[in-house]
Amino acid sequence: MNQQAQAKAAAAPQAPLSNTSSFRRLLRLLRPYPWLLPLLVVLGIAASLAEAIGIGLLIPLLGALVQPGDPSTQSALEQAVRAVMLDENGGIRFALVAATIFLLIVLKTLILGAYALVGAGMTGRIAKEMRVSLWDHVVNAEMAWFSRSDHGRLLNIIENQTYRATEALSSLTVVIGAACTILVFGTFLFMLSWKMALIVLAAGGPIFLLVRRLSRRANRYGQALGAAYGVVAGRVMELLAAMKTIRVFNQQRAETQRFEKAADHLRGTFLRTELLTRLLGPVLELIYLPVFLAVLAFALYMDVSIPVVLAFLVLLYRMQAPLKYLDGARVNLAACSPAMEDVDWLLASAPDERGRSDGRPCAGLRDRLVLDALNFSYPGTDIPVLRGVSAEIPRGEVIALVGPSGAGKSTLVNLLYGLYVADSGRILVDGTPLHELDMYSWRDHIAFAGQDSELLAGTVRYNIAYGVPDAVDEAVEAAARAARAHDFIMALPGGYDAEVGTRGILLSGGQRQRIALARALLRKPDLLVLDEATNAVDTATELAIQSAIEVLAGQTTILVIAHRTSTLMNADRVLVMDDGRIIEDARPQQMSARAALLAGVGAATEDLPGE
Ligand SMILES: Nc1ncnc2c1ncn2[C@@H]1O[C@H](COP(=O)(O)OP(=O)(O)OP(=O)(O)O)[C@@H](O)[C@H]1O
Ligand SMILES: [Mg+2]
Repeated sequence: MNQQAQAKAAAAPQAPLSNTSSFRRLLRLLRPYPWLLPLLVVLGIAASLAEAIGIGLLIPLLGALVQPGDPSTQSALEQAVRAVMLDENGGIRFALVAATIFLLIVLKTLILGAYALVGAGMTGRIAKEMRVSLWDHVVNAEMAWFSRSDHGRLLNIIENQTYRATEALSSLTVVIGAACTILVFGTFLFMLSWKMALIVLAAGGPIFLLVRRLSRRANRYGQALGAAYGVVAGRVMELLAAMKTIRVFNQQRAETQRFEKAADHLRGTFLRTELLTRLLGPVLELIYLPVFLAVLAFALYMDVSIPVVLAFLVLLYRMQAPLKYLDGARVNLAACSPAMEDVDWLLASAPDERGRSDGRPCAGLRDRLVLDALNFSYPGTDIPVLRGVSAEIPRGEVIALVGPSGAGKSTLVNLLYGLYVADSGRILVDGTPLHELDMYSWRDHIAFAGQDSELLAGTVRYNIAYGVPDAVDEAVEAAARAARAHDFIMALPGGYDAEVGTRGILLSGGQRQRIALARALLRKPDLLVLDEATNAVDTATELAIQSAIEVLAGQTTILVIAHRTSTLMNADRVLVMDDGRIIEDARPQQMSARAALLAGVGAATEDLPGE
């Protein structure tokens, strides 16, 4: 049942082939460029005119080859062309005709080039703007929104759905060109012989309906193919992230089999789609044939001059391609509707945190940080994670924050970073509530490092200088030395220019943490938050943190989420958290036995002086 519902939900966005809403959405994308559509129409009509006139000029050429013809059976267009292109004796002004046709074809090519340039250029530009604006929304959205959203969906929207919308836009530009051609050629057909044109129209109607049916099916297959590609891509993304687990638990074969199933489904869908789309062209040609024959039969019957019939047929033949485009574009237009819906959802639902730049600029932490009765539940839940947290942190103190897992330590520092806002209570920076400060200028004075620190793909230098992009090499190196990272960095191939890999995967866990520490130190923060590793093996990193604390103590306020007895003992004060409350605020030597137990340092504190 649940699976069924899921499958239904996944299939739902593909079901409606609503072209009108797609059109409206696409037109909205074009709104910043009101000149674009008219320009495309003008270019499209100009190119079609050049071609149609070129074809029209064939009439005197062919006419001279065949026979003069009787003016009474000639259409106005034919007479006009003959008047210009034939001399008094009925001979062709060959050089004039040839040169004109050549120039017209050059002109048409140039206009089509301009059309392609404008169409593709603007499609690319609008797509880029859409992607950048989506990314901008994500990177500036409230953290609460971001942590609750499905990151796979965000990736899919920014990556695939924008691609689909781009395809639709590009189709739209092609459709406009095709429509111009059909309009111009159609007009020429009527001017050449309105009777034959009416025959085409009468025969064309049913064919058009048939073609629509066929291409609708092609659309459906196309959408199914897109979905199948999406499934395979999603599977790959998931598997790449779990590579180590797959290997150590020996699931390579099982995963390959599961992958093969997805790939096999893709193969089946691909085959159906390919067959239909490849057959569509030949089948269409087959059913266009009766129309051509009907026109010929009528021409013979009505005694229309052969040059006119030929020009008519050439024009009709050249109309096939734009008619096909017109229908093919429906695929992309239909697929675009769910894509644009997703894009709209992201743009509308991500709450922007940039409003928090309105406050007073923050010059740094001069005196003290006060936590005043903070209460907090994560948005979307009603479980209290912080309950009345109060504390005073004078500038330059080293505070150890300890407590069992899930006590709320990381949550408390998230509030200090301004990533989340307390439900009630205040954080005071030198007496000013945090929410009255410009959040960005406050963040300029804080930094963090520790076990959850994220590195980005790039060089070691890039990662250390991440928060201070214009730092000189000497400063980067000094920060690395202070974080005890310089020696291992120099041993890396390439030194500071060594790549750290995706999320720093080419480095050890401890090396990653020391790079993150160097990154934090380079920022020379007023408030430094350190999150100690829970595992006890990484002595080098612990030493690095210890020495950094020693160097900075007295000037920089340091909040250490401590798991080590040694760190705790070196702190000025210990805040012990349990179940969202601060249950003790004491000097390390004066901790109660209960607090020491909660801090996980029970054994070590037994021999503390003063206990
Ligand atoms: N983004 C979130 N949304 C909802 N609840 C969350 C979120 N992050 C954490 N929590 C919940 O908040 C509580 C406190 O988590 P927190 O990460 O602050 O604990 P912690 O003290 O840092 O633990 P640890 O020592 O294991 O890191 C936990 O019960 C956790 O389930
Ligand atoms: Mg934590």
